[in-house]
Amino acid sequence: MNETTVFEPCDLVIFGALGDLSRRKLLISLYRLEKANLLEADTRIIGIDRHEGDNSGFIEIIHESLQEFLSEVIDEQVWARFSARLAYLKIDLTQMDQYPLLNTVVDGQSRVMVNYFAVAPSLFTNICQGLDKCGVLNGKSRMVMEKPIGHDLQSSKAINDAVAEVFNEKQVYRIDHYLGKETVLNLLALRFANAIFTTNWDHNTIDHVQITVAEEVGIEGRWDYFDKTGQLRDMLQNHLLQILTFVAMEPPVNLEAQSIHNEKIKVLAALRPITQENAGLKTVRGLYSAGAIKGKPVPGYLEELGANTESTTESFVALKAAIDNWRWAGVPFYLRTGKRMAYKRTEIVIKFKRLPHNIFKESFDELPSNKLIIHLQPNEGIEIQMLNKIPGIDENIKLQKTKLDLSFSDTFKNSKIFGGYEKLVLEAMRGNPTLFLSREEIEQAWTWVDSIQDAWAHIDSAPEPYPAGTWGPEAADELIARDGRVWEE
Ligand code: BG6
Repeated sequence: MNETTVFEPCDLVIFGALGDLSRRKLLISLYRLEKANLLEADTRIIGIDRHEGDNSGFIEIIHESLQEFLSEVIDEQVWARFSARLAYLKIDLTQMDQYPLLNTVVDGQSRVMVNYFAVAPSLFTNICQGLDKCGVLNGKSRMVMEKPIGHDLQSSKAINDAVAEVFNEKQVYRIDHYLGKETVLNLLALRFANAIFTTNWDHNTIDHVQITVAEEVGIEGRWDYFDKTGQLRDMLQNHLLQILTFVAMEPPVNLEAQSIHNEKIKVLAALRPITQENAGLKTVRGLYSAGAIKGKPVPGYLEELGANTESTTESFVALKAAIDNWRWAGVPFYLRTGKRMAYKRTEIVIKFKRLPHNIFKESFDELPSNKLIIHLQPNEGIEIQMLNKIPGIDENIKLQKTKLDLSFSDTFKNSKIFGGYEKLVLEAMRGNPTLFLSREEIEQAWTWVDSIQDAWAHIDSAPEPYPAGTWGPEAADELIARDGRVWEE
């Protein structure tokens, strides 16, 4: 925990409180924190949006959102406590003269004000200026911003510059909700608290790494956003690269935010740029056509509601990344992510090298190599695939592939596993920046992703179709097969 950590009640001010992100994720997470008694007694949640309304109307909308998006029945006692924290204020965020209204509901000078920007990035500058001008901020105020922070390096810098005019870097909390997921955090423990993985974690023992983030969902009514963004920017630039940094970074000296950021930045800076010359071999873009998910027919990307039928935006990406440093020289990282894939699955597979000599030819012509599989979601857990002797008194020793299986829900029966948002919103309110992204990290990630976007812009190819409900286009299998490997299913 950071030494500057402050545990004080705060005013959590959500800009865009009636929007999708706020209703689907933030307020649901806050309700769950309430249920777990993790909100400070005096903490308040203030919703800001441009629609007419008052406190009671807002409370009613949030109750409806909970009914719609919460996976369990609303607990009326918890709701009574939670709804008492809620307040609403109508502000058109583009109108500077409306921001002083904030002073009627927030006491920014004597309480900690946590400003959550749950709006499109085009409004970030307005909000920063509005907050600054109305005098509601002080040195203890924070701002939390959601991705996408820009759509390339240049636009990301512009946003970060505008934010820096008002907030210093220590006040800025950039969220990637994957960093709040239990299994991503557990990578720190797995790697840096277990001797077997501190020593066997480099090019000497690891053959390659696979990171898969497969989604069942399609565009979910977010056509406007997604079609301008694509899966590379929506998922790979942030979530997959963050997972990659946790797998690949050097041991940080401690768990302070700065120590972790330093190590992650080094990994991102060592990613070898993709070029026009090799993009065709190292990357695959896909676009889903009509198909079925778990037996239910779903439309193709170009047939979604409001679709631009000329679109060439990718809903799937697979690529082969190289990290040019001492530890990972020669170890490919295969990344893939797509919408409308066979089922939701996020996992990391660490495939170890084959042993140099096989003394068990009776069982295997070639000894299968060990695999460490980290299941991020669903069913969080860790699995190690290894070879074991089949018990018996046969003359020859016979081996069988077996697995050591650590399921989080079975092992930690008494611990509740929270979602990424719950963890991160709580940390932002507590003032602990460890799990948030630094400006430099985001800009390094964009530098590499820009190399891919530039290469794609110069090669004349469209995304390859794949039927919804499958594992992506055949070209993704070919990408890894060229190296004599296969995606782990
Ligand atoms: C978001 C993306 O950041 O992550 C969405 O914008 C995506 O497109 C979502 O569906 C996936 O999150 P999770 O936690 O469901 O894997």
